[in-house]
Amino acid sequence: MSQFIDDLIERMTLAEKIGQLNLVTPGGFTNTGPVVTEGVEQKICGGLVGGMFGIYGAAALRPLQQMAVEKTRLGIPLLFGLDVIHGHKTVFPLPLALACTWDMALIEKTARIAAVEAAADGLNWVFSPMVDIARDPRWGRIAEGSGEDPFLGAAIARAMVQGYQGDDLALPDTVMACVKHFALYGGAESGRDYNTVDMSRIRMYETYFPPYKAAVDAGVGSVMCAFNEVDGIPATGNKWLMTDVLRGEWGFEGLAVSDYTGINEMSAHGLGDLAAVAALSLRAGTDMDMVGEGYLTTLEKSLEDGRVSLGEIDQACRRVLEAKQKLGLFDDPFRYIDEKRTENILTADSRAFARETAAQSCVLLQNKAGVLPLKTAGTIAVIGPLAADRRNMQGTWSIAGDWQLCASVLDGIKAQCGQNTEILHARGANITNDPVLAQRLNFAGEKVDIDPRPPADMIAEALACAEKADVIVAVVGEAQEMSGEASCRADIGIPEDQRPLLEALAATGKPLVLVVITGRPLVLTWEQAHADAILLMWFGGTEAGHGTADVLFGQHNPSGRLAVTFPYHVGQVPVYYAHKNTGRPYGGDMLDKFKSRYLDIPNEPLWPFGFGLSYTTFDYGTLRLDKTALQGEDDRLQATIAVTNTGPVTGTETVQLYLTDPVASVARAVLDLRGFQKVHLAPGETADVTFSITSAALRFFNADLQHVWEPGEFIIHTGPHVAALKSAAVQWIRD
Ligand code: BGC
Repeated sequence: MSQFIDDLIERMTLAEKIGQLNLVTPGGFTNTGPVVTEGVEQKICGGLVGGMFGIYGAAALRPLQQMAVEKTRLGIPLLFGLDVIHGHKTVFPLPLALACTWDMALIEKTARIAAVEAAADGLNWVFSPMVDIARDPRWGRIAEGSGEDPFLGAAIARAMVQGYQGDDLALPDTVMACVKHFALYGGAESGRDYNTVDMSRIRMYETYFPPYKAAVDAGVGSVMCAFNEVDGIPATGNKWLMTDVLRGEWGFEGLAVSDYTGINEMSAHGLGDLAAVAALSLRAGTDMDMVGEGYLTTLEKSLEDGRVSLGEIDQACRRVLEAKQKLGLFDDPFRYIDEKRTENILTADSRAFARETAAQSCVLLQNKAGVLPLKTAGTIAVIGPLAADRRNMQGTWSIAGDWQLCASVLDGIKAQCGQNTEILHARGANITNDPVLAQRLNFAGEKVDIDPRPPADMIAEALACAEKADVIVAVVGEAQEMSGEASCRADIGIPEDQRPLLEALAATGKPLVLVVITGRPLVLTWEQAHADAILLMWFGGTEAGHGTADVLFGQHNPSGRLAVTFPYHVGQVPVYYAHKNTGRPYGGDMLDKFKSRYLDIPNEPLWPFGFGLSYTTFDYGTLRLDKTALQGEDDRLQATIAVTNTGPVTGTETVQLYLTDPVASVARAVLDLRGFQKVHLAPGETADVTFSITSAALRFFNADLQHVWEPGEFIIHTGPHVAALKSAAVQWIRD
């Protein structure tokens, strides 16, 4: 490998080397940032471009690759990237929704299908997985990741990298993955996008780093820098992060790319002019410059001035070329560009699988008196601004998805019902009545329209339907662009203009089922008190409507479990299960003044991490340990719990394993997820679920950032979610 690259670098001029570091986007097709690149075609022909993104399709990409290969002196092919985040043309549920399946094979398969479709569309690079731990639901990008937990997040990171890259990047249907955003992007202060991040190194290593590291361990080909600072220095120019940790400690050998104008933005962070921040980034180990052209316009002069060395430029260039070589582009620059392969896109099989993933991602949060599943009989009123909506089903980052192929929830319900069921529909409310907000949400095409009728008239129409119905299904929540990049919200309820409708529907006294569409945990405290059933459908992708209907009518028994805590009140944020204990933990006595708590709201969230109901019930036996005294690094503990399906239908339970380390040299979280298993049980069936626990589960980062375990007592817990655990203690000592 290196001989070929060595020879190539030997033949390259300085300008050609710097050109390889330039990642451009043409604009016009799909814009994902504040500026686009001018004069792309001339730049390609001039050897000033290493890769492109934001454009796809064999017909669009072939002439561009031809320019690179035929019009430049050395004919070096281009990388073609895109934000393929939860599917390409077959759009799967949002990553946060997929995380709620806790099903790694399913998640890997979504990435596999996305890779096949992206590769069939000329792409060789996807800007995914996004693995930023997020514990603040105000942050819109919580939708793009796997939630709050590093153990679950790491498992998902591995599954996705494997799904995209397979075992051989050079195969024409595998693509290079790009883990992002390295690092800590989800820790933005006040949940506002691009905001400052400041956290202890212990928290970085213990909580935020594991999913990135898991992706690196799984062989991810590229890493994208976060916009935020890390310990005062923006990630893009942070040598400690990009070189010492990423390459030194973790052994990453692939390509590091900045985020969109991330290099230039370091000037606004206060790190100096473009020449200064570009030099800083290159020296930090960021190889490619996305859109900003800071490398293109300053590195030559910086080399003359001695701010960067030729060795540093060569090294970055080498990493770009190596990525191209691993993808097989030097053997065949058109490997991924084959107009005939589009038959692999949006196949019947991929759509059927999308439907299954949409159903699997749903989380049943409440179901009083068994209102769900619905019967295919009688009259059902399907109400709400999102009930008949197709435009908002896919969720953020569905660049190549066609909303016109999506079914609405109403379509899905109608498709399940025959002659015996009457379906009535009224919109009842707008997603929002605020025209300025609507305009902001429509920046990439109209997703939100405002029905000009007075709200009271719309409610009256909805009530007329509701009065005739046996059950009301209200489909409410966020528009697609209310979550995702630069889509943060301070008030994270169902948008307020939908509340009067919900109040009116609740006042009818009819059974009320809420289907909630959202890209983030919402505060649903009022809804929990007033609705009979709440089904969280997230943004479910191409087949959202049918997958949700499968759950509503019991074709699919809901099995999703929350990968993120749902707050009781936004004032609790950040609220997450793996919190520390504090010196004054609250014990429940309201009059005990000097405790860590609020005067006006509980400490507990509305729905805890791991929570989710089923149409059946599961009973957990006692937790059995094969021993309670363990010795040494290599000892192994078996923890077993019997789980019984005590309800009327077959169902799937996600059995979770947590650990507490009550005494350690640094304060530990009250609980840490250490395992999970899904069991599928028929009515009356019991299964023993056994976890095999090694000393690896005891490890944590100590004050010297060593990954150690310390002997002593540990508590093992298993159960259906963090607020319903069965526990037992063990002693684990050294040899
Ligand atoms: C986002 C990245 C994305 C990039 C390219 C940026 O604004 O932060 O996640 O990959 O744009 O579209």
